[in-house]
Formats: sequence, C-alpha cells, structure tokens
Amino acid sequence: MTTLAQYLKDHASNPAVNDVITTITEVGKTISQLLKKGALADILGEAGNQNVQGEEQKKLDVLANDLLLEALTKNSHCAGVASEELDDATPANADGSLLVLFDPLDGSSNIDINMAVGTIFSILPYQRQGQPSKNGDFLQAGNKQLAAGYLLYGTSTMLALTVADDVVMFSLDPDSGDYILVQDKVTIDADTSEYAINSSNYRYWRAPMQQYIDELIAGEAGVRARDFNTRWVAAMVGDVHRILCRGGLFTYPFDTKYANKAGKLRLMYEANPMSLLIERAGGGATDAINRILDIEPTDIHQRIPVVLGSKNEVDYIKDLHLQHENK
Ligand code: AHG
Ligand code: MN
Ligand code: MN
Repeated sequence: MTTLAQYLKDHASNPAVNDVITTITEVGKTISQLLKKGALADILGEAGNQNVQGEEQKKLDVLANDLLLEALTKNSHCAGVASEELDDATPANADGSLLVLFDPLDGSSNIDINMAVGTIFSILPYQRQGQPSKNGDFLQAGNKQLAAGYLLYGTSTMLALTVADDVVMFSLDPDSGDYILVQDKVTIDADTSEYAINSSNYRYWRAPMQQYIDELIAGEAGVRARDFNTRWVAAMVGDVHRILCRGGLFTYPFDTKYANKAGKLRLMYEANPMSLLIERAGGGATDAINRILDIEPTDIHQRIPVVLGSKNEVDYIKDLHLQHENK
C-alpha cells in the first residue's frame, strides 16, 4: 500500500512542489468532510454575491476558496495564489518558488443536489523570488506547469495527480485519513464511443462543432457508422475523471453565449491542469485546433474553448475545424 506521502517522497523531484501538494490535499480532506455533512453543516445555497466572472457564488465556493487561500499563503514555498473566486492574485511568501492557481469548487451547481464536485489545481514556477508576486507572474503557458491535479468529491474522494511523467490516482481512506495509491500510470484509449457536451448550447457553437455532434447523433446510420453515447456530469472534474477512468471526449466548445465569444471554461485553473493530466495519460487537449498547453495567457481569468480526451476524437474535431477554415 502506497500513501500519497510515500509516493511524493519517492518521486521527489521538487520538495517544494510536494509540500504544496500536501497542503492542498490536506485542505481537500476538510472540504470533503464539509460536503459529507451537507445540509447539516449549513453550507448549502448561495453566498449572496458574484465572483469576478459574474457568476453567483455558493457558500461552499467561498468556504473552499478561503480554506485553500489560508493554507497556501502560510506555505513558505508558495509565492502567490490565484483563484476562480478572487479578482486578483494574492501575494504570499516572496521567497517561495511556486505559484498556485485553483478552482476551489468545480461544478458548484451540483452541491445543492448532492452530486459530484471537485477542486482543481495548477502549480507554476515563480520567476521573481524575493519580490512580491503580481497577476502578471501567473501568465505562463500550461506547458510550464510543474504539477497539476484535482480532488473529486464523489461517492468517495479521489485525487488525480501528475508530478512526474505519469498520471496517478489516490483514494482517500475515510478510516485512516490517508490518500492511498489506487492506480499508477493512468492511460486513455485513443478511441471512444462516449462524449460529453452541454447540447443545449448547440445554437451558439461554430459550424464544425455542430457538424461533429450531428455526426455522433446520426450514429450507425451516419458517416461515423457507429453509435455514440452521451455522459455529462455538469462538473468538468467529474467528466475528466470519467475520461481518465475509461476514455471519452469532453468539450465545452467555442460558444457565442459568453461575452468573450470563447467558451465557458477558464484557461489557467480549469483547462491547463486538466490538459496536463489528459496529455500525460496519452489523450489530447485543444481549443478545437491549437494545443491548450501552448496558449500564452493574457489574463488569469481568461476563458477558452476546451476539447479533450481520447486522442482520435480530439484529432477528428481538429480536422473538421481546419476543413471549415480552408473552405
Ligand atoms: P464552476 O462551478 O467552477 O464555475 O465550473 C462549472 C463548469 C464546469 O465544471 C462544467 O463543465 C460546466 O461549468 C457546466 O456548465 P453548464 O451546466 O452551465 O453548461
Ligand atoms: Mn470550474
Ligand atoms: Mn468553481
């Protein structure tokens, strides 16, 4: 049996990264406990304010954010923290070598209906040690990430993590309070017949994405000549977890519904960490055409179209988009 502590020790390429991961996963235990108490902990419902992206904050969005912020700003390796729920990054310990970005609670509309939610995190190097960190320090492409992962608070609490070349999974043992390694070397099959998309946004998509979904729905009778099945958790963390477990395609595509005409998901604390996990497990992650991990960010809260999962489907979607551009 390998605990997270043991795993991190054995793969200790960077002790600072390991220490920050320990801090995040310890807070994850507290969030997991709060979620288990649910209605009894008076944590459900709206907090009564909006975040920087104009979304209603749930009480637990705020609580999870505050817990992570407090713990990480105390960690001596952490030079700064950026969160979905905070307009600007928070400087922490100027001598730290790391920056941490997180989505404290992903899929928060699931909280009040007792469904899966998660915490997503991304760890970047800090380049200006000794000076207080600023928003601009976080604007590094996803390929610079030193580690990334998520905690999924589902029927059990799981951690998916990449600190080295591999993606590994741990399960939180409610008895011992330890994260136990349950899968090393997670890999995603290149082919799949399962896809996840919020189809109610169909009218806002670009033509090649509409064509792609039309082809999947046509199934055996269409050009794909086989049937596909939809699965949609409504929390990216749940959909990505399913893909790491059994393959699949997840997309929150380019969507004119959102003011920036990009999509819903955020590059720095949703798309980037998930893309690193998916790529290291052998899958693909693009904005429909370009590799997400190579996109140079311009804002910590910028949104981006996301297409990720089984490699052949991700490549097929890219082909459809390129064909459309070349018409
Ligand atoms: P968050 O709760 O952190 O704002 O993220 C929710 C995201 C993502 O997890 C999910 O894939 C998507 O929103 C679902 O949104 P819609 O139900 O609005 O399509
Ligand atoms: Mn989210
Ligand atoms: Mn969130």
